[in-house]
Amino acid sequence: MIESALPNLRILLGVSGGIAAYKAAELTRRLRDAGADVRVVLTENAARFVTALTFQALSGQPVRGGLWDEAAEAAMGHIELARWAQRILIAPASADLIARLAHGLADDLLTTLCLASTAPLALAPAMNQQMWAHAATQANLGVLRSRGAVVLGPGSGSQACGDFGAGRLLEADAIVAELMALHGGKLLAGTRVLVSAGPTFEDIDPVRYLGNRSSGRMGFAVAQAAAEAGASVQLVAGPVHLPTPAGVARSDVRSAREMHATVMQHVPQCDIFISAAAVGDYRPAEIAAHKLKKTGGALALTLTENPDILAEVAALKKRPFLVGFAAETQNLRTYARAKLERKKLDLIAANRVGGGSGFDAADNELLLLWPDGEEALARGAKLDLARALIARIATLRKADPARAKGAKR
Ligand code: CTP
Repeated sequence: MIESALPNLRILLGVSGGIAAYKAAELTRRLRDAGADVRVVLTENAARFVTALTFQALSGQPVRGGLWDEAAEAAMGHIELARWAQRILIAPASADLIARLAHGLADDLLTTLCLASTAPLALAPAMNQQMWAHAATQANLGVLRSRGAVVLGPGSGSQACGDFGAGRLLEADAIVAELMALHGGKLLAGTRVLVSAGPTFEDIDPVRYLGNRSSGRMGFAVAQAAAEAGASVQLVAGPVHLPTPAGVARSDVRSAREMHATVMQHVPQCDIFISAAAVGDYRPAEIAAHKLKKTGGALALTLTENPDILAEVAALKKRPFLVGFAAETQNLRTYARAKLERKKLDLIAANRVGGGSGFDAADNELLLLWPDGEEALARGAKLDLARALIARIATLRKADPARAKGAKR
């Protein structure tokens, strides 16, 4: 499915100057593996980090550098090259290049090609975290987005300069998967996805309940991204105030036990289960038939444990590909990895909650962990993060078909 996803798509890969330029070599290979026809343009600064020869060997095509190379212009002039491109991908896109593009400069071959082409533009930024966070960079990206450019990533984590934060180039497979999705490549075509979302409410009496602050937005974004990726999607939603994403089937539930029953009913028909719901771990041992009255003293509620839906699905003999979520206030990576292993998941999406982040916010930040790898997704809109999560699921399932079929781990 993934091999044929970019069949003969003519991609102009622009590489700008930065230490991440070396990763563009791997990207060139992956694009060709996906069936694309790739021509590479290096900026003058990129050529200080990597050589044209590397990209010539990997793309099987001559590599362009400057605007003033007479021999290259005679072979394929820059206007011809701009017309040839069906898509322009710049990876890595440096802060400087982003600034020049935002201002419509044409002071080197790559920026000239971008102006001279009508091909859609995708940028995978890579830079120091401070440069990424700078208002100038964010404003420039805003301008480019408003003109239709798509920004892929960046990831976050440790940086070549020794800093830690957002600004790492996305991994090559993640860039390819996102390009495929943009190109209408249906990453999850023919796949059945079950998503749980939102909080659960546990009734105490006819007017009161125990709940949590989950808004359901992340889970709904995941359902939407899965549907966009061509999956048939069943959403099991706790009590939330959100519209159903287009093309998604929805069942509404209230308590953890209702969610448990509905999920177990749908699990046998799904290939992937993404458990994004914030399921209450406990419920009142008894639901009072009538409204509890003040007694003038303390009130003790006895709580009893709810079923762990995800753990139960993980223990099934024939289990789907399993994705869990972990909301943590501290020790994100350590706790989430422990959860991944304890629940025998294929992938976990961890996010920090508390202090104004996570629940009920429009954007989020996710750390994706799987048994032999991880990817940190920098803060972004929940739908963008959901799309990156779906791309990662597709890549992992492709890399390990046994796991994709739900082999017990
Ligand atoms: N989950 C579930 N059923 C439950 C509780 C959680 O399916 N009864 C799922 C959530 O949807 C999420 C993952 O399990 O995907 C969260 O793991 P869990 O260990 O339950 O998280 P916490 O409840 O936050 O655990 P802890 O208190 O140990 O941090």
